[in-house]
Amino acid sequence: MIEDIKKEALELIRSAKDSAAVERLRIRFLGRKGEISKILRSLKDLSVKERQTVGPVAQQLKKDIERLIQEKTAVFSKSIQQGLPGIDITMPGKKIKIGYLHPLTLIEKEIRGIFKAMNFSVVEGPEVETEYYNFDALNIPKNHPARDMWDTFWLQNSQQLTSDKEQLTKGQESKVKGQMLLRTHTSPVQIRYMETHKPPFQIIVPGRVFRYEATDASHEINFYQIEGLMVGKTVTLANFKFVIQEFFKRLFRSDIEIRFRPSYFPFVEPGLEVDIRCIKCGGRGCGICKDSGWLEVMGAGMVHPRVFEAAHYNPRDFQGFAFGLGLERMAMIKYNIPDIRLFYSGDLRFIQQF
Ligand code: DAH
Repeated sequence: MIEDIKKEALELIRSAKDSAAVERLRIRFLGRKGEISKILRSLKDLSVKERQTVGPVAQQLKKDIERLIQEKTAVFSKSIQQGLPGIDITMPGKKIKIGYLHPLTLIEKEIRGIFKAMNFSVVEGPEVETEYYNFDALNIPKNHPARDMWDTFWLQNSQQLTSDKEQLTKGQESKVKGQMLLRTHTSPVQIRYMETHKPPFQIIVPGRVFRYEATDASHEINFYQIEGLMVGKTVTLANFKFVIQEFFKRLFRSDIEIRFRPSYFPFVEPGLEVDIRCIKCGGRGCGICKDSGWLEVMGAGMVHPRVFEAAHYNPRDFQGFAFGLGLERMAMIKYNIPDIRLFYSGDLRFIQQF
């Protein structure tokens, strides 16, 4: 019988949910009319022999129950001290929600990592740019029709930003002449970097760019690019082909077929566009590649001599390749995202998928 009481008492005390429940159990077992007290009191009616066997067992049980009640009370009073009344701290904890990295952050990190492993340095430049760096120095003079390729956000009062003309040397003045703007591409950083560095070097330039355009599934007024530039005495398009092939191989973790198509950008000659075999259909033709089997992924070419001249290099001394790719486009291909506007929607259901 003592065994039964013991089992029941220990079980009930262990599963008590708050200090009131513990107190009720204390009274039930150890109170004046409690079950254990009754047994102890009834010892006197037993024979000496019986008393010798039952006595110590009942005493031990009393001690066990007292200890357990004490422990349980301590648990509850601790949680009360911490301002958590009645909370059983032995319960499993609640999962803490941690944030997610935006898919653009993820892909930029990955691309940085790939180029760093190929010995490229990561360089950044300003988002508010001068007309000189964004256009003129890149062989896009004011009345050149190529300026139509970049719909620009021009900044008002830009002359004030670049006043204090007296303090500028002639050379500096020409760079701030003209209006300020939000850069339409990351290419101006090519000039900024070359002005202060000597070849050989290889860099990538991740950054935010802006276009004054209507938005749709593949256009945003604000997006991200990664520019690449490698210059040396003997850098060729063959080097570019290897670097870019390796880049896609690592980004998509498989051998991706690429092709070059002739194209035009004022700051390269020859200029080209790089396509990759459609990731989705493998080239058979599908909605993603508009049945062409290829996906356009970047512009590139050999740096134009005028660009080297703008950076005060002698074009006879150096040559190199440049490229520019859209980060959203890469992420859309890699993660199968159908609409560029999703990146900027702020919808957590979108972000939580990555
Ligand atoms: N800046 C170009 C754009 O935004 C992309 C580009 C094309 C960059 C060719 C380059 C290049 O460096 O060589 O459309």
